[in-house]
Amino acid sequence: MITEQLQFEIEKISQSRLHGLEEDSLQFGKVFTDHMFVADFIDGQWTNMKITPYKDLVLSPATSFIHYGQSIFEGLKAHYGKDGDVFMFRPQANIARMKTSAIRMCMPPFPEDIFLDALKTLLSLDKAWMPKKDGSSMYIRPFMFGTDEFLGVKASDNYRFMIIMSPSGSYYKNPVKVKIETHFTRAASGGTGSAKAAGNYAGSMYPAKLAAEEGYQQLIWTDGKYHRNIEESGTMNLMMVIDDVLVTPKLSNTILEGVTRNSILNIARDWGWKVEERTVSVEEVVEALENGKLHEAFGVGTAATIAQINTIGYEGKDYELPAVADREFSNKISTYLEDYKRGRVEDKFNYLVKID
Ligand code: COI
Repeated sequence: MITEQLQFEIEKISQSRLHGLEEDSLQFGKVFTDHMFVADFIDGQWTNMKITPYKDLVLSPATSFIHYGQSIFEGLKAHYGKDGDVFMFRPQANIARMKTSAIRMCMPPFPEDIFLDALKTLLSLDKAWMPKKDGSSMYIRPFMFGTDEFLGVKASDNYRFMIIMSPSGSYYKNPVKVKIETHFTRAASGGTGSAKAAGNYAGSMYPAKLAAEEGYQQLIWTDGKYHRNIEESGTMNLMMVIDDVLVTPKLSNTILEGVTRNSILNIARDWGWKVEERTVSVEEVVEALENGKLHEAFGVGTAATIAQINTIGYEGKDYELPAVADREFSNKISTYLEDYKRGRVEDKFNYLVKID
């Protein structure tokens, strides 16, 4: 338990809702733990900071974020490790990214030290909800939204910041079939693509629905101007092994700076892999598919960690990728990350925060 003086109150649930976690059937983001963290930004400062039992919100129908989308979120995970320890993976990176998102969306960043204390305290309080099996995790969802009761279009003066937690199973059960999207756009240059803004996800749903009607589970997004260069895949960053090089699109204001992306690049470099962060054209990828030079393609993100891609569709043609079992890099990193997050290998990069 946290022993230092916390800057928020804790109201514990009188009776836990937990009656045994059915780990085998655990889905992603469907059940929520006993407690949540809440804080309000009022009169220019963060106040009413509290951990309370998980409960519904009561909001005015005029609440500004509902109308104008001033809403951001984060996603991070904690894992059950060896000897029953619980570890958060790189929470400071998510806290820093939420600050960047807040600034882009004209919102007040939440104090970083209290954010970290809130995460640790919630995990400590709801430790009994931690799933234990490999592949499972406690998915943690911090989020913030404008709460002015006002229909004029302007940045809200008031905000709510919250953290909820969901014991979760894997995001994708199987490799996915994706389509290179050359009509719709996830993010335009100068837009909000590098912020974790709720609206980015809303805008991606219609193109994803159309692709699903054609049998694709996800899209590979391309640049908004000419659709010539690869950007992301679904809600994740995209990585490929072309020849013997790990290749990923370089960061820009249309690409979210993924924590999983950064972790994998750091580890790959440490392993001595050739790594390239650069512009990756659709033409190059299609050519590599045709010539058998594209050995691996996978999405990387917090929710799925590694989402293997088995088919890439482009202009009506489907290209099959090598069998997942034969993929040297993504299989190796997938196992290593699982071990790393559970404290089963050395914390070489100082990524783990242990929960007391
Ligand atoms: C992630 O994997 O990092 C995501 O953003 C997916 C989440 C929105 C469910």
